[in-house]
Amino acid sequence: MILVGSFITYLLLKLQPSNAEIADCNFLDTVNITEAERFSDGSYLYEGVLIPAHLTAKYEFKLLGNGEKEQVPSHMRGCVCKVRPCVRFCCPHDHIMNGNNQCESNMTSRERKLLDPILNVTLADGSVVQRHFKKDFIVQWDLPKACDNMFYVDNREKEFQYTLFENGTFLRHLDQAYLNKREYCLQHITLNNNGVYNIRIVPQNCPVEVFRMGQTVVMTISLICFVLTIAVYLCVKKLMNLEGKCFTCYVVCLFFGFLFLLLNLWQLTRSFCQIAGFLGYYFVMAAFFWLSVISRHLWKFLTSMNDRSDRAFLRYSCFAWGMPLVLTGVTFLAGEFVESDDWKPCMGGNGHCWIFTENWSAMLYFYGPMVILIGFNFIMFILTAKHLSESKRAIRNFALQEGRELGMKSEKQNYVLFLLLFTIMGISWSFEIFNYFVQREKLLEMVVLVFDYFNWSQGIIIFVLFILRRKTLTLFKEQ
Ligand SMILES: *[C@@H]1O[C@H](CO)[C@@H](O)[C@H](O)[C@H]1NC(C)=O
Ligand SMILES: *[C@@H]1O[C@H](CO)[C@@H](O)[C@H](O)[C@H]1NC(C)=O
Ligand SMILES: *[C@@H]1O[C@H](CO)[C@@H](O)[C@H](O)[C@H]1NC(C)=O
Ligand SMILES: *[C@@H]1O[C@H](CO)[C@@H](O)[C@H](O)[C@H]1NC(C)=O
Repeated sequence: MILVGSFITYLLLKLQPSNAEIADCNFLDTVNITEAERFSDGSYLYEGVLIPAHLTAKYEFKLLGNGEKEQVPSHMRGCVCKVRPCVRFCCPHDHIMNGNNQCESNMTSRERKLLDPILNVTLADGSVVQRHFKKDFIVQWDLPKACDNMFYVDNREKEFQYTLFENGTFLRHLDQAYLNKREYCLQHITLNNNGVYNIRIVPQNCPVEVFRMGQTVVMTISLICFVLTIAVYLCVKKLMNLEGKCFTCYVVCLFFGFLFLLLNLWQLTRSFCQIAGFLGYYFVMAAFFWLSVISRHLWKFLTSMNDRSDRAFLRYSCFAWGMPLVLTGVTFLAGEFVESDDWKPCMGGNGHCWIFTENWSAMLYFYGPMVILIGFNFIMFILTAKHLSESKRAIRNFALQEGRELGMKSEKQNYVLFLLLFTIMGISWSFEIFNYFVQREKLLEMVVLVFDYFNWSQGIIIFVLFILRRKTLTLFKEQ
């Protein structure tokens, strides 16, 4: 009885009108055949391919990029990929995609001549054959795109290889991900090959998603620590001397730099991608300039008791907020006017709302200035350390007055702490640069990860070193 009952249930389920879809046909294998020629037997002629009646149906939905369905006016679709192999394009077959993932209208006849129409397709038996995208395939282009921020995988580069199977599955070698036709699309792209332009069919992918929980947690705690640190400095008047003010500015910059990095990580800056990229860039650079202002100030202060007035703070502010602005402006202009793909700073490129860190432009606009500033801080650190050790000897030798010695000691404690911090910061960002050079070495990935965590926890380190110390806590209680 139970067997018969379940069999009937099964049959009933099977026989339910399944939203009028074509049996055994994935939506991704269908095309809109509203405009195709219909014959009396119910078959359709689409792009020279005859689609038999049983492979057509009325659809009242369409698929969205995230895999969900959306109600649309009823229209005819045909399972054309069952009849002829399909190739998944982003735009109509005669369009070129520009750098901003936009389809540019019809190719000119000159562009048509430059076009390489050949696709390397892997058959089910593993053999690779060359196929013409238009003559051997049906070009599907009105399928949904999984994301707006696709980046292209240029297989002239060793690490960007891919395999396109005849059934439409796409294998990205980078992370061994199998993508279906919703998750990638191909399109013609103009590529610059050492000054020679050619047009190739290149796959577009969504950014590689990796599990980022650890980074999110650590960076969020860091952000909270930044806020607490800023709050304590703003509350405690005694901390707000010139160094304290500079330090607060520095932490503010780090806070915003981290914030934009985190927002980018969770793709929350899509709607203002370029602006977010430039803001993030500005704040990271500003943090470096504040760091160098502080290290220079400490050295100057120790050696020649320089100006500690508000005027000095104003001067520092102009420098440390202004220079990154100049750099941001330069980067923006370079993005607008530099032609070479190698030297163009692709803000918001590669599906990230951050400066594009994978070519030489990053060295010029991002890591280059960083290296210079870290180098500068390092020199200041050495000079200060040298001065401190010399003055220690001097104090011992000449047995200066008690008061001066005591004062000297407490100042020194402060500065040693600051300097310690700056070395830590310098190191952590140096590894960011190191990371840039080894980003394709699998072996070093673990090392890089350790330093990444170190980098992301800067907020926590700062909080522990600067707030959770007896002196600050006492001042805070007094307040
Ligand atoms: C299908 O094609 C027709 C005619 O080009 C168009 O009006 C309709 O919006 C299309 N439907 C969908 C869901 O793409
Ligand atoms: C592109 O070319 C097709 C025919 O080849 C034509 O129907 C269409 O209007 C053209 N579109 C544009 C934007 O030039
Ligand atoms: C196809 O393979 C050939 C030979 O391996 C290669 O030269 C060509 O660039 C490939 N084309 C594409 C679009 O990947
Ligand atoms: C397409 O073919 C590849 C390789 O033969 C296979 O791994 C993949 O599962 C197939 N995909 C579909 C949707 O059949």
